[in-house]
Amino acid sequence: MLTVAFYDAKPYDRPSFEAYGAAHDMTFRFLETKLNEDTAALAEGCEAVCVFVNDTVNAAVIDKLYKLGVKLVALRSAGYNNVDVRAAFGKVHVVHVPAYSPYSVAEHAMALLLTSVRRIHKAYNRTRDFNFTLNGLTGFDFHGKTVGVIGTGKIGRIFTDICKGFGMKVLAYDKFPAKDSGLEYVDLDTLFSESDIISVHCPLTDETRHMIGEEAIGKMKKGVVIVNTSRGGLIDAEALLKGLRERKIGAACLDVYEEEGDIFFEDRSGHILDDEILSRLISLPNVLVTSHQAFLTEEALNNIAETTVENILSYFENDGICNNELCYRCGDIEHCRKERKERCF
Ligand code: NAI
Repeated sequence: MLTVAFYDAKPYDRPSFEAYGAAHDMTFRFLETKLNEDTAALAEGCEAVCVFVNDTVNAAVIDKLYKLGVKLVALRSAGYNNVDVRAAFGKVHVVHVPAYSPYSVAEHAMALLLTSVRRIHKAYNRTRDFNFTLNGLTGFDFHGKTVGVIGTGKIGRIFTDICKGFGMKVLAYDKFPAKDSGLEYVDLDTLFSESDIISVHCPLTDETRHMIGEEAIGKMKKGVVIVNTSRGGLIDAEALLKGLRERKIGAACLDVYEEEGDIFFEDRSGHILDDEILSRLISLPNVLVTSHQAFLTEEALNNIAETTVENILSYFENDGICNNELCYRCGDIEHCRKERKERCF
């Protein structure tokens, strides 16, 4: 029986993981705490740890897990910017779930956008209070508007399809443009200056951190709506706040926030939020924040549990070979599995 320490466990994680685990002789030690240097010891006796986006898997944590005999870090997310994959090389193998439901995230991005632009959140609160006035609820048509999509991978492509369904013109930017996609790729400056709406769907890397900052915002149209369902660090939150206060940015829809690590996923009602920037963003009438909720559909949760259990099994029962391993040996973190027929190290 394999035992897996499951960090940052939430009630909605358990049913699917318990079901898939039980079917494969695997037990999960559900821990409410996040993984960090102080909590790594809770994985003692476990062959693997299962982590999410705000667990810390830095070099120090990896060393502690390695000394405990943990062989595998199984991310139950696609993004892995919270894992020092380079430090893990030679010590602990790292697997992730490359895709579980890109639809969940793309649809949430559109849900946020529609809610914000058509003021649904405000109307909902008003009518519950039997206030049936329309003042201040004026939105704008999506039809005929230009949406700039940064990152045209699995989620970005679905988002562009949804936007096209609304009759929007799509401008795309990607470091590696998709061939034969029919998308109109432009440089970032063109995308910034011509888009009425900008939605980011690329990973957070050293290169993309703060790609939307003061300079980029300066190039944008007045009244631009910015949507981020990718990673908080893609946007400089201070610059975003400044742009909103100066009325340059018309609205922001945020499912992620740069400093979300200690805030999101928890009930902070009744507490005073120490994060000044997030407090001020939430206080603005044209900012909509959800707390990293875009992935949260039944389909996605089931797919995450199924793939994570398969990843763990293939590592322990398939001579250490797992197609979803993040490898640093050849430098091509995600794709080297196509070249290799053996484990990463
Ligand atoms: P993907 O790997 O299919 O697509 C990412 C795209 O970004 C690729 O086309 C890639 O070429 C492009 N890219 C890489 N570097 C770039 C750069 N410097 N500039 C512009 N584009 C660049 O990933 P997928 O599945 O579409 O996910 C996108 C992001 O969504 C993930 O990185 C993750 O951060 C985020 N995400 C958020 C979730 C949420 O619940 N809010 C859930 C799942 C993913």
